[in-house]
Amino acid sequence: MKRDDKGYLTYWNDEGKIRVFSGIQPSGELHIGNLLGAISNWVTFLDDYECIFCIVDHHATTIEYDPQKMPQWIFNAAVANMAAGLDPDRCTLFVQSEVPEHTELAWIFNTVTPYGDLSRMTQFKQKSEQYRHNVNVGLFTYPVLQAADILLYKASAVPVGEDQVQHIELAREIARGFNNRFGEVFPECQAHLTQAKRIMGLDGKNKMSKSLGNAIGILEPLESIWNKLRPAKTDERRQRKKDPGNPEECNIYTSYHCYFSPEKDLEWVRKGCTQAAMGCLECKKKLLDNMDKLLSPIRKKAQKYKDDPEFVYDVLSTGAEKARGIAEQVTEEAKKVMGLIRSS
Ligand code: TYM
Repeated sequence: MKRDDKGYLTYWNDEGKIRVFSGIQPSGELHIGNLLGAISNWVTFLDDYECIFCIVDHHATTIEYDPQKMPQWIFNAAVANMAAGLDPDRCTLFVQSEVPEHTELAWIFNTVTPYGDLSRMTQFKQKSEQYRHNVNVGLFTYPVLQAADILLYKASAVPVGEDQVQHIELAREIARGFNNRFGEVFPECQAHLTQAKRIMGLDGKNKMSKSLGNAIGILEPLESIWNKLRPAKTDERRQRKKDPGNPEECNIYTSYHCYFSPEKDLEWVRKGCTQAAMGCLECKKKLLDNMDKLLSPIRKKAQKYKDDPEFVYDVLSTGAEKARGIAEQVTEEAKKVMGLIRSS
């Protein structure tokens, strides 16, 4: 390990590549926030980095869920990730619980993580409000497991959406805490954000999130997307009167940035809105068209994978085997410096 140009301790593999790790929960259908905030970003790392992506089922069990549905959610998450561009020939894709070292390293990290640091985590505060009837210890130590996920592979780069940045910073602190106490084993991982780091939900108030009921699924049929989009909130002035709207205050317009690449399309919307030349419904239809352009190739590819589950399970088991190869070595290295394995 060496320090990178920003001064962070960084790990390069034998081929001189930095390892990337990121994870996604299999909690229901993946949504556009996951796609634009995370998966589309992951795809950009495939060529120049060693990429490891994980379906983090142990994280998903920290809230109540239906065990009958979990296998299907895991499968769907794998399908959606591959359909969105995670080419299994260029990355490792696997399910967290198939590599037991994740939970073993999480325990080790529990012993070097200050309680105060965990109690400051924003997501814990939010989730313990949201799931008041089930504030379990797993929800509290969730970021420690996340640190283990990343550091088990000595990953230095972690592409995530904005809501995960605090967890990645904590993972870096955990790596430092461990290294200071026992010796230099883990890199100081860094979060990598995209422009679409916080996609808002259809309510226009909160980030898009499955659990807030404001999400559009990646594989959702077009009619169902339209049924959600049609009544979605826009700039209030525009909704109440025939006044010109203010696109910067409109959730629909701000979402356009993510679906429209040519500036001239954006300009078309801007003009239509500010000059009251176009109604909100027309604007939403245009947005629907553009979402469809983004999602329909993904939907098609997903169908192909759904029709061939054996292939999908094969990718996941090959992925788990590759991941285990690294995970076993790194866990052993950590346990050696901790005095848990005799150095020969
Ligand atoms: P999860 O499953 O909630 O989300 C997966 C990824 O999608 C991003 N994301 C968003 N980005 C922009 N706008 C949104 N509205 C939006 N919603 C979700 C998330 O930031 C995330 O990158 N704790 C993690 C999973 C995890 C993990 C890890 C991530 C477990 N171990 C190790 C990185 C490294 C989570 O719950 O993500």
